[in-house]
Amino acid sequence: MGLVVVSLLGEVLRVGGGLGTDYCVCVPSDENGRMLPAELERLVRYHKDRGNVPFFVNATSGTTVLGAFDPLMEIADICQKYDLWMHVDAAWGGGLLFSKKYRHPRLTGIERADSVTWNPHKLMGTILQCSTVHFKHEGILLSCNAMSAEYLFMTDKIYDPRFDTGDKVIQCGRHNDIFKLWLQWRGKGTSGFERLMDRLMELSEYMVRRIREQSDKFHLLLEPEMVNVSFWYLPLQLRGLPHNRAKEIKLGKVCAKLKGRMMQAGTVMVGYQPDDRRPNFFRNIISSAAVTERDVDFLLAEMDRLGHDIVVD
Ligand SMILES: *Cc1c(COP(=O)(O)O)cnc(C)c1O
Ligand SMILES: *[C@@H]1O[C@H](CO)[C@@H](O)[C@H](O)[C@H]1NC(C)=O
Ligand SMILES: *[C@@H]1O[C@H](CO)[C@@H](O)[C@H](O)[C@H]1NC(C)=O
Repeated sequence: MGLVVVSLLGEVLRVGGGLGTDYCVCVPSDENGRMLPAELERLVRYHKDRGNVPFFVNATSGTTVLGAFDPLMEIADICQKYDLWMHVDAAWGGGLLFSKKYRHPRLTGIERADSVTWNPHKLMGTILQCSTVHFKHEGILLSCNAMSAEYLFMTDKIYDPRFDTGDKVIQCGRHNDIFKLWLQWRGKGTSGFERLMDRLMELSEYMVRRIREQSDKFHLLLEPEMVNVSFWYLPLQLRGLPHNRAKEIKLGKVCAKLKGRMMQAGTVMVGYQPDDRRPNFFRNIISSAAVTERDVDFLLAEMDRLGHDIVVD
């Protein structure tokens, strides 16, 4: 999924400086949720031909539900060709940059972006909230945001006033999220973050293996590309029956019942949701370094203990 923002200058002014979603154009994606570069280029040309001015492309590295990674190299080529600002929303997937093993090809090309958003509080275990935005062009935040309020940001201090971040961000006096990441990075080091990313992927792979080994009780939906593990749980009632659409619908009903029992027991919790092809399914995300293989085994055993006698119609 991606967006191109197009505008007619007069129209933008008329709506008072804001852009509004009417000026965002959705770019079609493939079945894995990855933006189609050919479609992006077609839409850019289509709008240019009509006198609109495309200027911003929003690509995603790690979409929220599927964890899909847009092809950044091809998108960067198009942005370069048509002089468009390239933004990468890596809020979810950005952490994998630390892993030599997993960053390519997923994030290849992110270095060509003009701006990147990345939320270390999602995959990196940074304390909530830590949402960051990074720009290639030095000084751009100052030139966009600085109001140079004389009563706050004196320039004759005894230290370098560039350390006063308040005047270049929209938040002014609110927390500087990046400070938490800086501290954590000092503590863990780049190699510490790399071990963390590899560990989370390894645990997810372990969970996939354990689900496969217990295929009478669990049904794996898809091979994971990130830390997302999607599966159904089969209570006794549904075991050993051929897998078909009618059974999937029943498995979907099991999710809400089992989640309810998990919440009442207070021992484990796993989220569930439907997608455009399937009824409800469980989607487990491991994003904490404190999780171990034993926890994964406990989780699966506990789901079975709480859910084996569930009956659905
Ligand atoms: C979580 C998420 C966001 C929202 O980030 P905020 O910092 O909470 O606004 C945006 N994009 C993706 C892909 C996300 O996963
Ligand atoms: C990019 O798109 C995502 C949705 O896919 C949205 O959450 C985010 O705010 C957008 N970012 C920008 C800078 O437009
Ligand atoms: C995880 O998300 C990716 C999309 O990047 C998808 O292709 C994959 O099948 C998903 N895996 C699971 C197990 O949900």
